Amino acid sequence: MKLLLTHIKELLQVRENCPAKLSGKDMKKLPTLKNAWIFISHGIIEAYGTMDKMGPHQGFKTLDCSGKIVMPAWCDSHSHIVYAGNREQEFVDRINGLSYQEIAEKGGGILNSAKKLQETSEEALYHQSAARLEEVMRLGTGAIEIKSGYGLTTEAELKMLRVAKKLSEEYPITIKTTFLGAHAIPSDYKNNKDGYLDLLCNEMLPKVAEEKLAEYIDVFCEEGYFSVADMERILSEGKKYNLTPKVHVNQFNSIGGIAAAVKHNALSVDHLEVLTDADLEALKNSETMPVALPSCSYFLSIPYTPGRKMIDAGLPLALATDYNPGSTPSGNMNFVVSTACIKMRLTPEEAINAATINGAYAMGLSKTHGSITKGKVANLIITKEIPSYGYLPYAFGSDLIDTVIINGKEIK
Ligand code: NIG
Ligand code: FE
Repeated sequence: MKLLLTHIKELLQVRENCPAKLSGKDMKKLPTLKNAWIFISHGIIEAYGTMDKMGPHQGFKTLDCSGKIVMPAWCDSHSHIVYAGNREQEFVDRINGLSYQEIAEKGGGILNSAKKLQETSEEALYHQSAARLEEVMRLGTGAIEIKSGYGLTTEAELKMLRVAKKLSEEYPITIKTTFLGAHAIPSDYKNNKDGYLDLLCNEMLPKVAEEKLAEYIDVFCEEGYFSVADMERILSEGKKYNLTPKVHVNQFNSIGGIAAAVKHNALSVDHLEVLTDADLEALKNSETMPVALPSCSYFLSIPYTPGRKMIDAGLPLALATDYNPGSTPSGNMNFVVSTACIKMRLTPEEAINAATINGAYAMGLSKTHGSITKGKVANLIITKEIPSYGYLPYAFGSDLIDTVIINGKEIK
């Protein structure tokens, strides 16, 4: 399919040679073209420019984008959208005063979701997850990472990853998958964590690799979950199967997970709500992308990742949703971008860069996603008529999206 968008009020994130990631001061710049056009063909960005220099693109479907802004679709590099059921009772428990950790200690939390998922058929899991994927696509997400981690048995972990794989086959959105067998210690192994690690390393990992179900490996490195030593064992084992680390660290406590993940060449370290100066130093001069998940902080009422401080220290930063039933039952990247501006003091330019180019980097998609660049995948958001791009994070509760195009296709 060929499509021409004309009279675009402003085309955002236009980069002829797009860098793989943006750090520090470079995040303040958002290159744009005013009064622009863009031409896409067979799912690829073919050409773009300003209206005074539009080529003879005729005979194709044309959308007049007068008054509207066009930008690359969001790149959500951290989600858990394959899950079964919901946990609204825990939400009420938290309102009534229990903490996330106290709920988990009572058998709620991740283990609650794992029980539900183990009892859910692969088909039902697919349908529940597909509904969420369709929702996030309508909200402007054009590429997403999906983790396992609510299975916690070999069979259920494989079920989750097969569902994610089927979603990637059925939908135009680009999906990257991550094996997160080390999300929590299942009840059967309550007093035998090493036994679970053996199962993960000797049974789960080889099967995930054999069926080519994941490209990345994740660990919830946190007090009460997996230690730094556990994480190092799992990442070393994952490396044997060419799985690249993308890890949950520093959500509640700083226990040395960041430095260890950087040492293991992690593609990203995610959460970072608690960040010490030593953690920040460990990220400097590394290729690891720090990822903030502000809607998780919002939902759990925990600190926000110190994004302002990190960018001012010259670091890169990506933004993602963390869409999951426990800490973030929302996959809305528009809300994430607003919340990063409002609560983390990122400028609109920094937040948009963090949710496009840097999000693409954090899931290994820098060459194909995250910017308006010739030859990249045609993943576009067309906004409603709005005064400026700063209005997007400013009007935080409004639905400002008119049309979403993913892989060249209009999403209905
Ligand atoms: O990223 N913190 C670990 N994992 C998820 C939440 C898991 C859950 O509560 O179900 C997260 O926040
Ligand atoms: Fe997460």
